[in-house]
Amino acid sequence: MEKKNIVWHQHPVDKAHRAAMKKQRPCLLWFTGLSGSGKSTIAGAVEHKLAELYHHTYLMDGDNVRYGLCGDLGFGDADRNENIRRVGEVANLMVDAGLIVLTAFISPFRDNRAAVRRMLQQHEFIEVFIDTSIEECEKRDPKGLYKKARAGEIKNFTGIDSPYEAPQIPEITILNSNISIEDAADQVIDYLDKNGYLK
Ligand code: PPS
Repeated sequence: MEKKNIVWHQHPVDKAHRAAMKKQRPCLLWFTGLSGSGKSTIAGAVEHKLAELYHHTYLMDGDNVRYGLCGDLGFGDADRNENIRRVGEVANLMVDAGLIVLTAFISPFRDNRAAVRRMLQQHEFIEVFIDTSIEECEKRDPKGLYKKARAGEIKNFTGIDSPYEAPQIPEITILNSNISIEDAADQVIDYLDKNGYLK
């Protein structure tokens, strides 16, 4: 995109250089799924496994980011769009820094996720769909939010009165109703391994 009076500056140390120093292939593991689907927990377990393999990582988590970077945003469609745009931009910078980045956001809109995919180079964006049904998420209700949403105390709650558009061709799908965190994390690690991210 062309910007008036702003010129892109090419610095001597680039992404390839930073990645080579870290001895890894940077990428973005984009976890998406309903509230309570297990995104954050599985992403945390994957990051832990990557750390044990001496990879350099960073995990951005929806709830945490909404304390700072996106602390001014709510859960209407426009704010969710802006949330994912900001997170995408920051994650892209972190990939540029040579990191393996993990993000755990509901990111309910396909267009938003596609826009983040376009920010990155081919094969850098790996969509991880945590496919847990709304019934199962509501049964778990770890934060009591579904109960509040059903009682009308929370508006625009994903899956209740705000939509979730499931990915159509995610790189990884984890059917997370009857699977351990360990096995779910292993599925992601296996994908990375088989596709040459963990050389
Ligand atoms: S989004 O849709 O990607 O912008 O949402 P995200 O930044 O991931 O934030 C989701 C967490 O916010 C809490 N929460 C809500 N979720 C969905 N809808 C509504 N209205 C809502 N209000 C608060 C909730 O704890 C989500 O965390 P997870 O980990 O997904 O359960």
